[in-house]
Amino acid sequence: MAGIIIKCLSKFYGGKDSGMAALRGLDLEIKDNQFVTLLGPSGCGKTTTLRLIAGYVTPDAGTIRVDNTVVSSPEGVAPPDRRGMGMVFQNYAVWPHKTVFENVVFGLKLRKVPAVEARRKVLDTLALVNLGGLENRLPNELSGGQQQRVALARSLVVEPGILLLDEPLSNLDAKLREKMRVELKQLQRRTGITFVYVTHDQAEALALSDQIAVMHGGELQQYGTPDEVYRRPANKIVADFMGIVNFLPGEVRAGAGEAPVVIIDGMEFDGFARLGDSVKAGQAVDIAVRPENLRLARARSEEHRLSARVTERTYLGNLSEYWVELPTGTVLRAQTHPLEQFGVGDEVFLAIDAAECSVFPHVAEPARAAA
Ligand SMILES: Nc1ncnc2c1ncn2[C@@H]1O[C@H](COP(=O)(O)OP(=O)(O)OP(=O)(O)O)[C@@H](O)[C@H]1O
Ligand SMILES: [Mg+2]
Repeated sequence: MAGIIIKCLSKFYGGKDSGMAALRGLDLEIKDNQFVTLLGPSGCGKTTTLRLIAGYVTPDAGTIRVDNTVVSSPEGVAPPDRRGMGMVFQNYAVWPHKTVFENVVFGLKLRKVPAVEARRKVLDTLALVNLGGLENRLPNELSGGQQQRVALARSLVVEPGILLLDEPLSNLDAKLREKMRVELKQLQRRTGITFVYVTHDQAEALALSDQIAVMHGGELQQYGTPDEVYRRPANKIVADFMGIVNFLPGEVRAGAGEAPVVIIDGMEFDGFARLGDSVKAGQAVDIAVRPENLRLARARSEEHRLSARVTERTYLGNLSEYWVELPTGTVLRAQTHPLEQFGVGDEVFLAIDAAECSVFPHVAEPARAAA
């Protein structure tokens, strides 16, 4: 199996002088036998990165190494079929008039694998993706999830060291997507193949990955474990993309250090998870608070110090979601146990789990040009 080292990789589609970077200065180390996800909003450069790794696109700068051999640089690119990689595209396109077996055996025929051996490999691979016994079906006799697994089997049968997957579950319904998620993760563990997976769905990335590369505007924002990117976001972009987040305004009292004190609504709070290095005493900050890290109570207490009023409530079955407004006008979203019930208009008191919250410098929104 194989690891990938990406150094300073850039791609400008309109030529290097266009300034239009689809990808800018990407550094990424994908270890052998890992499940790594490229995550970010539409247009952030995920597919571009995957196509660069696959060898379909030539970089304008930087290198890609696989097992210490340079496979891509502006000087040259090893062709896709020489890279020992498989790729599953977003529109997984199985051939409709070929049986499952014929779909999967294709890559082996190209490589002139003898028929008996090819048959064994196809049947083994179909068993691996839980399609055993379906080899003579046509794609229209399969469910969407089964067709997706045919596409997977087609890439796996040639035993790639690296499998590249571009939003492979996006055409499936929510329930099937969740089921396939678990299957993909198990498949990666069983085969030991390095998976590079692209998605814009943060829940999918959290569920599947050993490491997540969060991208935005063609640049890498953070590379870390699911826990790190969710609980210790490197910046506001990551905090915002990795789930629901409130940005609660405050002001730093002590200097930036290990135990900063932040003033919120005239009260001192401490114990925050992270304070950006550039945060200084007296500076305005935004505290990233996830809805599950706000707790509501009917009475003021040492913990429940911030007073607020409930403006909206949504019942979601396994939890209740509240919109609460501080006297300053800031509206926060909080999630609580469904049996904890408050009504719209109720006065509540909020506790913040500071250890789960990161503090970032406040950057004023650029003034809108007058219409
Ligand atoms: N062949 C191309 N020619 C010119 N520009 C391109 C080309 N392919 C992509 N781009 C641009 O490069 C940027 C990154 O595109 P890319 O396809 O990598 O995004 P993505 O993260 O995969 O988005 P999505 O989630 O929508 O698939 C976009 O601004 C896109 O318009
Ligand atoms: Mg894409």
